[in-house]
Amino acid sequence: MTKFELLRAEAKQRIDEKQGTTLVCVGVATCSMASGALKVKDAFISEIQRKELDARVMEVGCMGHCYAEPLVLIKKPGFPALLYGKLDEDLVERLVEDFLANDDPCFDFALAAIEPNDSFPTLADFPRGFYEEKLILEQCGFINPEDIDHYLAVEGYRGLVGALDKSSAAVIEEVKSARLRGRGGAGFPAGVKWEKCSQQDDKEKYVVCNADEGDPGAFMDRAILESNPHLVLEGMAICGYAVGASKGYIYVRAEYPKATSRLRIAISQAKEKGLLGKNILGSDFSFDIEIFEGSGAFVCGEGTALINSMAGNMGIPETRPPRMAVSGLYGKPTVLNNVKTFAYVPGIVKNGAHWFRQKGTEQNPGTAVFALVGKIKNSGLVEVPMGTTLRRLIYDVGEGIPNDKKFKAVQIGGPSGGCLPEDALDIPIDFDSLHDAGAIMGSGGIVVLDENDCMVTVARYFLEFTQHESCGKCTFCRLGTKHMLDILTAITQGKGSLSDLDLLLELAEDVRDGSLCNLGGTAPNPVLTTLRYFRDEYEAHLEEGRCPARMCKDLIAYYIVPQKCSKLCSACVGSCPTEAIYTREDGIKAITQDKCVKCDNCLKACPPEYDAVEKLSPPVLPGEKGSEKK
Ligand SMILES: Cc1cc2nc3c(=O)[nH]c(=O)nc-3n(C[C@H](O)[C@H](O)[C@H](O)COP(=O)(O)O)c2cc1C
Ligand code: SF4
Ligand code: SF4
Repeated sequence: MTKFELLRAEAKQRIDEKQGTTLVCVGVATCSMASGALKVKDAFISEIQRKELDARVMEVGCMGHCYAEPLVLIKKPGFPALLYGKLDEDLVERLVEDFLANDDPCFDFALAAIEPNDSFPTLADFPRGFYEEKLILEQCGFINPEDIDHYLAVEGYRGLVGALDKSSAAVIEEVKSARLRGRGGAGFPAGVKWEKCSQQDDKEKYVVCNADEGDPGAFMDRAILESNPHLVLEGMAICGYAVGASKGYIYVRAEYPKATSRLRIAISQAKEKGLLGKNILGSDFSFDIEIFEGSGAFVCGEGTALINSMAGNMGIPETRPPRMAVSGLYGKPTVLNNVKTFAYVPGIVKNGAHWFRQKGTEQNPGTAVFALVGKIKNSGLVEVPMGTTLRRLIYDVGEGIPNDKKFKAVQIGGPSGGCLPEDALDIPIDFDSLHDAGAIMGSGGIVVLDENDCMVTVARYFLEFTQHESCGKCTFCRLGTKHMLDILTAITQGKGSLSDLDLLLELAEDVRDGSLCNLGGTAPNPVLTTLRYFRDEYEAHLEEGRCPARMCKDLIAYYIVPQKCSKLCSACVGSCPTEAIYTREDGIKAITQDKCVKCDNCLKACPPEYDAVEKLSPPVLPGEKGSEKK
């Protein structure tokens, strides 16, 4: 038996020894902790102890169904493994009493079974499960990220063993032949980058994993690191072997403490087992991985800024060439890849390039991992084959827009991505098609917007982010984005004229073309795409002083329709933080406009049977000159 097979056998034995008892797996990752996962875990532990049941509680990572957090998977002998969502302490008590103690699986609040069975539908029976295809999220939420035995038991580190059996050139050939494109945004072929690095005649080389993930709304990389850290370590070690590097770094932002602590545990367990460190599995190959905690500046995710900050210099971008594969960290040949890029590597080496190429499209093989957020029923972490349309992703996987609202746009690619309208929903998701539509894949953040979202405000929000994060090195990026932001701010206040739109376009092109790095290069994307697809909204702000989505505070007024007000109900009065609502002599409620801070409380508080509060845009009350109610 090889050293690796021995490790696997021991791992499986340790896991098997614990079989036979009930296992409660609680999804504990940043997203679920915010929804109370730790309380749910503690509640299970204390209830199980109180009832003296033979059951274990174990932490797993993110299962992807963020809309239903906190999630728990219960594996009880004699029952299919069942997933439960939206748990709180009361439901925990019921599950422990009814299911763990008394064999009633409480199907009424189960989400799905994990494997086919005769009692309950599985995840794959729902559209989301049907259209998802998990290559790198497969084990996320199902294994214990803090126990290497779990990873070994699911064939973990088999890719590294396979790589060590081949020449480094053959490993690079496999990655090239898989046509794996970097998942950090630009989609550059990973194999080409690795090959260039391997050709450098230098003893010291580095492998760096980019886990900076600064895009607002994105959490894919964090979730992978929190849920299956060994997958990324294994990918990095294979890369180290392929290019001839013996040192790897993971650049992870300091705001990711859970990811960092699980990575630390994973690195030390891998070292203990001889899967990292000196002479891995008795071979000539030595490879060590260290964590570098970045301080969380968006621009530090850019490759040259990242290695600058690692070397203790200002985290600002540099001109290229030389390429990083030639001169990177400390001036040495370096491979820099995204978390997901490394995560695909073990599968490719283990199953062959054709396995990867079978998924997705010819030029964009494999899958795409997205953080699906915004106005979407099933928000969460999803993985679909490249080439899946946006419509399928939003309506089948995400189950569409909540509260019967109308779809308005999808913002894809992070702060420097683009906003695409309904007409673009049939675009296949891949690097090239999205680029042609004016958006980008980016790192995988997708924000769905509905009829209540103002596209000028959305463009302004993202531009404000990039403007704020500009390192200031280039004039166009530093001042051009500021000028653009000022114009957008004025438009949201109904100020300016149509000629400002031409100026915006001109500035956008200048910023795009005159910036050194892609922060400035892509910062105008939200403005360019909203101008391309939603120009009428800009025009309504400028020409009519009207915000069609009734979102821009300067262009709306709250009004209580006298004919609809119940007179006896005072729900709105109590909800108003500024005491702007008063009772008229006839009992009807009205708003003192000067006091109103447009918080939306009264609209939400007014009972649906009266529906008496309205938002007007332009902010002209009935009876006032030029009144025009929307
Ligand atoms: C402003 C800016 C921020 C970036 N942030 C990230 C990031 O957080 N993670 C990432 O992998 N790539 C990020 N990138 C892309 C990196 O520069 C680089 O292309 C990438 O890490 C290479 O890995 P890949 O080939 O696997 O995609 C960013 C680029 C720019 C311009
Ligand atoms: S484009 Fe912006 S972020 Fe990039 S180097 Fe220039 S000023 Fe800095
Ligand atoms: S919008 Fe807010 S501040 Fe204005 S009247 Fe309603 S509750 Fe009061």
